[in-house]
Amino acid sequence: MKTRIQSINALEVLDSRGFPTVRVNVALEGGIIASSSVPSGASTGENEATELRDGDPARYGGKGVRQAVKNVQTEIAKALCGLDASEQANIDGTMIELDGTENKSRLGANAILGVSQAVARAAAQAAGLPLYAYLGGAGAKHLPVPMMNVLNGGKHADSSLDFQEFMIMPVGAPSLAEALRYGAETFQALKKILHGKGYATSVGDEGGFAPQLKGGNEEACELIVGAIEKAGYKPGEDIAIALDPAASSFFENDQYSLTRSGQGNKTSAGMIDLFAAWIDRFPIISIEDGLAENDWDGFAAMTARMGNRIQIVGDDILVTNPKFVARGIAEKACNAALIKLNQIGTVSETIDAIHLCRKAGWGFVISHRSGETEDAFMADFAVAMGGGQIKTGSMCRSERIAKYNRLLEIEAELGKAARFGA
Ligand code: PGA
Ligand code: ZN
Repeated sequence: MKTRIQSINALEVLDSRGFPTVRVNVALEGGIIASSSVPSGASTGENEATELRDGDPARYGGKGVRQAVKNVQTEIAKALCGLDASEQANIDGTMIELDGTENKSRLGANAILGVSQAVARAAAQAAGLPLYAYLGGAGAKHLPVPMMNVLNGGKHADSSLDFQEFMIMPVGAPSLAEALRYGAETFQALKKILHGKGYATSVGDEGGFAPQLKGGNEEACELIVGAIEKAGYKPGEDIAIALDPAASSFFENDQYSLTRSGQGNKTSAGMIDLFAAWIDRFPIISIEDGLAENDWDGFAAMTARMGNRIQIVGDDILVTNPKFVARGIAEKACNAALIKLNQIGTVSETIDAIHLCRKAGWGFVISHRSGETEDAFMADFAVAMGGGQIKTGSMCRSERIAKYNRLLEIEAELGKAARFGA
């Protein structure tokens, strides 16, 4: 059979931070070979599936992934060889069962996801379909609006920003290609503004600038509005702002400590007041992880207060896990989910989490990780899922641009059939 798995191999490669990660190759009996690489987060949720690291301080400070690679080459390959690559649910279910733990800690979510993605890609090739069409069917023609992370803080940069991500969303653009132009022009305008004010224009992990702004988080929003205008666009109409404070990363001793920006400590209610004031002042349409991952009550309070005006996205609190997404829906903790394949560790479970979002009328945003590779799997995945939003970094750094360039290819390939917008 053409789609039967013949062999599976893996390799320790490097991600965009120079840390090791897993790349998997899958060969089918029909002669097709496909590969995929796994990304890695820095501000990870505590309930994410486990990334298996060797822990050997003599190699990469303990971050080697030789054991995960070995798990692919031995146990996983043995269990999957001979199975049909076009049966994704069976492939993923077999690996989940083989691992046997709740969080994929035995074989490693990095090992399992690498195989899951490479199998999907191989099956798509065998079917003669682009990956987005294979995973999304004939109706997959919807290009997502990008959230472009133009100012980096938190765990992604040594800037003065407590908040991790200040993003622009070209909501008024007529196509993906135009959205990228709007975004790139605004990014360049922001660079000129920062330079003119004497701020550094070096970039953080996701390609956004990482300056020591004197006015902290608030000045970040002001500068972005200025950049949108300088580039010739209307804030809120052509381009809106999205935030990912990644609040778990500055939640200490039951308080939100905005120490870098000098805004002091805040309670959960204090944070919500801050966001309420900001959405009146700035064209903010989406806030992700505005509160910490265990602050379920705070999330519900924030959604009750402003969920009718803006998108409230759960990332660390939901970790792409159908179990937590279901809880979030039941408790009205958010109205959208961030979707990261490696938080849960298989393509099938990620799709399950998205199904829950759709059923509940929630939005969802397909997302990269701060440590990425040149693999653009998630760009195809975003089109396949048709959710209308993608978060894949700023307008520089090739591991981010690889995803945008893949979306451009898809839009061109779809031609007149392509649709764009959230
Ligand atoms: P991470 O950051 O990949 O470092 O977790 C991305 C995010 O928080 O959305
Ligand atoms: Zn996040």
